[in-house]
Amino acid sequence: MRIVITGASGMLGTDLLQALAGEHELFGLDIRKPDNQIADIKYQLLDITKTKETYDTITTINPELIVHTAAYTNVDGAESDPEQAYLINALGTRNVALACQRFDSALIYISSDYVFNGQKKEPYIEIDKPDPQGAYAKSKYWGELYAQWLVSRFMIIRSSWLYGKNGKNFVEAIRSQLKIKPGLKVVSDQVGSPTYTVDLASAIKRLLTINNQLSTGLYGIWHITNSGSCSWFDFAKEIVKQVDAKVGVEPISTQQANRLAPRPQNSVLDNFNWKLHELPLLPTWQDALKRYLKQ
Ligand SMILES: NC(=O)c1ccc[n+]([C@@H]2O[C@H](COP(=O)([O-])OP(=O)(O)OC[C@H]3O[C@@H](n4cnc5c(N)ncnc54)[C@H](OP(=O)(O)O)[C@@H]3O)[C@@H](O)[C@H]2O)c1
Repeated sequence: MRIVITGASGMLGTDLLQALAGEHELFGLDIRKPDNQIADIKYQLLDITKTKETYDTITTINPELIVHTAAYTNVDGAESDPEQAYLINALGTRNVALACQRFDSALIYISSDYVFNGQKKEPYIEIDKPDPQGAYAKSKYWGELYAQWLVSRFMIIRSSWLYGKNGKNFVEAIRSQLKIKPGLKVVSDQVGSPTYTVDLASAIKRLLTINNQLSTGLYGIWHITNSGSCSWFDFAKEIVKQVDAKVGVEPISTQQANRLAPRPQNSVLDNFNWKLHELPLLPTWQDALKRYLKQ
């Protein structure tokens, strides 16, 4: 298949290109060059907020599928610069979706657990009502709406708490603090599912394979995360344990952490659609962390 991946230099985009390399004709688009180019990928620079350039670049490639991972991902930054978040995550997604219309390309839009308000006591399923709270969350939800409004064959894949070797992430933040701090304070009243981008990339690859070149119609909303859930505090403790550091981790509340953006207390995503299709659950978050730390 001819596939465009936006956000090709980002954390998920890089692992996705790696997962699909050799099996598809791949075009990687991003506002910046990748740190390391993967062989056989055709990279191009593109700012998705530019409507005409986005339309021209994508329609010239004429892909059968676009996997849209590019985003403004600074959750706290979006509170002080909401226009930038809306421009990239909402209008940028609209621009990508408009290009899909020309040759009826399918679209996979990567979305977030943050579209939910976090008040539900159980894990969220795909048809639970979104109620995004901060500017980042709202901009991602607006992107979901554009995907649904403008593209006939869309998949919205919501995932959570991503980490991978090609981007800033929680695991690396903890590891770098371990080097300079005698003890860590980490939020214990937000619960979610940490997800390794390598595992999410292979789940997306699997969906494409069972979707048989896009002919079987597995469209709609999907929640895809590593299995199990924990708080940021539990996650930090597991990182400390797995790297065998002798550092204490102390729980603090969201209020004490005093971050700019609101965050859902519960953002565990039930991979309900995935289970309905009898697909095997993704590995546990602890197992994923072990593999990430080994590489
Ligand atoms: N990270 C998480 O915990 C998380 C959780 C759930 C869902 N998601 C979603 O998953 C997707 C992938 O996340 P990620 O963490 O892999 O993101 P990432 O590492 O920040 O990658 C996003 C890429 O998009 C690029 N980009 C930003 N603005 C652009 C523009 N105007 N035009 C073209 N490219 C642009 C970024 O470049 P710059 O680096 O220069 O900005 C970056 O290379 C995103 O849609 C995100 O919202 C992330």
